[in-house]
Amino acid sequence: MTEFQAINNILSNPSEGKKVRVRGWIHRIRKTGKLIFAVIRNESGIIQAILFRDNLPTEEFELAKSTLIESSVVVEGRLAKDERAPGGYEIRVEHFEVVGAAEKFPITKDQSDEFLLDNRHLWLRSRRMSAILKVRSTIFNEIRNYFQGLNYYEVQSPVFQSGACEGGSTLFEVPYFDSRDKVYLTQSWQLYAEAMMFGLERIYTIGPAFRAEKSRTRRHLTEFWMAEVEAAWLGNAEMMELAEGLVTHLVKSVIEKNPQELEFLERDISILKEIELPFPRYKYAEILDMLNAKGLELEWGADLGYTEEKMLTQELRTPIFITHFPRAKGFYHRVDPEDDKVVLCHDLLAPEGYGEIIGGGEREWRLEILMKRIREFDMEPEQYDWYLDLRRYGSVPHSGYGLGIDRTVAWIVGEEHIKNVIPFPRTMRRYTP
Ligand code: 4AD
Ligand code: MG
Repeated sequence: MTEFQAINNILSNPSEGKKVRVRGWIHRIRKTGKLIFAVIRNESGIIQAILFRDNLPTEEFELAKSTLIESSVVVEGRLAKDERAPGGYEIRVEHFEVVGAAEKFPITKDQSDEFLLDNRHLWLRSRRMSAILKVRSTIFNEIRNYFQGLNYYEVQSPVFQSGACEGGSTLFEVPYFDSRDKVYLTQSWQLYAEAMMFGLERIYTIGPAFRAEKSRTRRHLTEFWMAEVEAAWLGNAEMMELAEGLVTHLVKSVIEKNPQELEFLERDISILKEIELPFPRYKYAEILDMLNAKGLELEWGADLGYTEEKMLTQELRTPIFITHFPRAKGFYHRVDPEDDKVVLCHDLLAPEGYGEIIGGGEREWRLEILMKRIREFDMEPEQYDWYLDLRRYGSVPHSGYGLGIDRTVAWIVGEEHIKNVIPFPRTMRRYTP
């Protein structure tokens, strides 16, 4: 018997009368007395199948007549040229088999966002979700390729953590047996990375991060995926090169590996193709001036939220860095030796209105100063005892960053909302299915 074939392989090398055998799902079906048109979908694409009453056993034709969309099926037949069929060829079916019959599929055309989210477990098989998830898969793979190519080691940090890395207000606390200490879900691997770095020097990870952020923007999830890196001896400027290197690598790889998906998603790739190194760099103070020139009235210390970043990047076609943020940005950032109002850190903003995709910088690596910084944030150094140990035993200058993978996927595929680039999104109001 002929082997099962991927639909894209069949359509990339077709010939009249060639015998083919595919398994997949009924994507669309239209029935008349003597004729049934079905479109079969599998992972690799769609193909039209045509069933003539006289071309296959009667009971198989009758079965096809009662088969609904999303049933899983096996079809065998011969290829025939047809200009109107997607891909230019159709299968003239000689054998039709139902593997799993579908009930009436709840998702029809023109459904609301909420309905599709409630039925995410079924919507995931849509061609749109599949295209996005294929790009997402490339991005995960290419993050690894990029860092492995530079001799970084992949290493994992715990998801259960005992302290805050990115501020107490967004921690998810979890019950942990009868522990009297508080236990939280990770916001970032960073503090643990700084410990792991002493043996391996150049490390990265890909993992989930959790933030109880009460933000309901198009770019916030409560559970998202981050690629993070930490390296001994490197300063903020070198870390920025590692950041723009990664982002350009990801964009180039997706253009090369997912042309069909980008086309299906109607992504304007001319913008992506123009992206070049180095990305422009601006200081926070310059950014305030730029935004104020656009009519805002921001003062020193103002947070750059989604609205501000959208304004900044809407017309841009290339990512930009923002550096030298106020020292309130975070306790672990190294204060600029040349200007103690600011820290040596960077955010990378994606263009086209997307905004921040990377946050990183140089870490304060001297014990006394780090203790002062912790107090500056109204926290107790005792809470960070093991972290402070890292400054006691052979501390070195070091830096790192975190890339929000979901935000990066959203930008690269041109998807408006972050929840549409992750299989099962978790937001403030949604934790099902
Ligand atoms: O800027 P953030 O908070 O930086 C850190 O967590 C550092 N400790 C990382 C490091 O240096 N190792 O988060 C990093 C990135 C952001 O730039 C953003 O892309 C993404 O993580 N991110 C979110 N993505 C989706 N939903 C959220 N709620 C996110 N919060 C941050
Ligand atoms: Mg940030």
